[in-house]
Amino acid sequence: MTQDSSAGLALPVLDDALAARLRARMLVVEEALAGHVHGQTPFVTEAASHLMSAGGKRFRPLLVLLAAEAGPDADSDEVVTAACVVELTHLASLYHDDVMDEADLRRGAASANARWDNHVAILVGDFLFSKSSELTADLGADAVRIQAQTFTRLVEGQILETVAPEPGADPLEHYLKVVAGKTGSLIATSARYGARFGGASADIEAALTAYGEIVGSAFQLSDDILDVASDFEESGKTPGTDLREGVPTLPVLLARRSTDPADERLLSLLAGDLSGDELHAEALDLLRKHPAMEEARAYVVARAQEAKALLGALPQGPVREALEAFADVVAIRST
Ligand code: IPE
Ligand code: IPE
Ligand code: MG
Ligand code: MG
Repeated sequence: MTQDSSAGLALPVLDDALAARLRARMLVVEEALAGHVHGQTPFVTEAASHLMSAGGKRFRPLLVLLAAEAGPDADSDEVVTAACVVELTHLASLYHDDVMDEADLRRGAASANARWDNHVAILVGDFLFSKSSELTADLGADAVRIQAQTFTRLVEGQILETVAPEPGADPLEHYLKVVAGKTGSLIATSARYGARFGGASADIEAALTAYGEIVGSAFQLSDDILDVASDFEESGKTPGTDLREGVPTLPVLLARRSTDPADERLLSLLAGDLSGDELHAEALDLLRKHPAMEEARAYVVARAQEAKALLGALPQGPVREALEAFADVVAIRST
């Protein structure tokens, strides 16, 4: 591998030819995306392109392009369209998510709700979702159905996150259901669209969908660990947002299982209101040092292993290796 064979890509691609192809295709996707965020007035265009220009890893479109390489038609226009569809859907969900989470920062920039207000953020999210749906229509009725089912799952996950688990339900199971819905669903669809529009067999499409579902959930779990462990420079977001909002994520759920008397202070903080700066900082500090963080990381690594095992349906080669690396990156980004 040359030093920069995967430069510009959000994952290490060992094969130089594959890396070059993916980079070239990502440029086509970027250009197409820029065209899709145009509104009828400069204000709409500015608000809709705000987060797109702020940055972002483009994990989902990259996964579409990579999964497409598993089939004979990776170069088809439909693959690029599908890549735009998943990024626009993701982008729309970020505008809405930052309203729900009262987040001020996104992709290292002001969130749309902070830059303008909640109304603008919600409506621009709707605008982007509509753009994404319009584009999906070019991919045919099956793609529209998949897109709609995906968005239903994503939104249902976001709704479930705002309510407590059903009485008697395991909080960890509730959380894993939230994660699979809000994030696993769209990443599964990214892999699925790639396989489908790249012309892969039905078996490979099924394997890549299952792979994407697990990788997607692991991606969210890593994000939740990073929310505790990382600072703004690393994540481009405000650390401890989940704690402040009272959203219990994997590290918190695992810490809550502790019966160690030394954890009494942390557990009482976690049971209370952490919207104030002082208590929030204390809880974040204690949680960062807690063994639950390592336990959470080990859980994510195990999920990545599971995802990689599903790639047995693909022939050995650069594409399978890159998909394995993709699962590894998701797991280790929180370590
Ligand atoms: C953020 O997704 C929201 C989650 C589902 C964790 P990403 O981490 O992919 O965000 P960007 O697109 O790189 O900003
Ligand atoms: C984002 O979840 C999930 C979706 C946008 C569907 P989070 O609220 O956990 O993600 P971040 O940390 O704000 O990116
Ligand atoms: Mg959020
Ligand atoms: Mg959220």
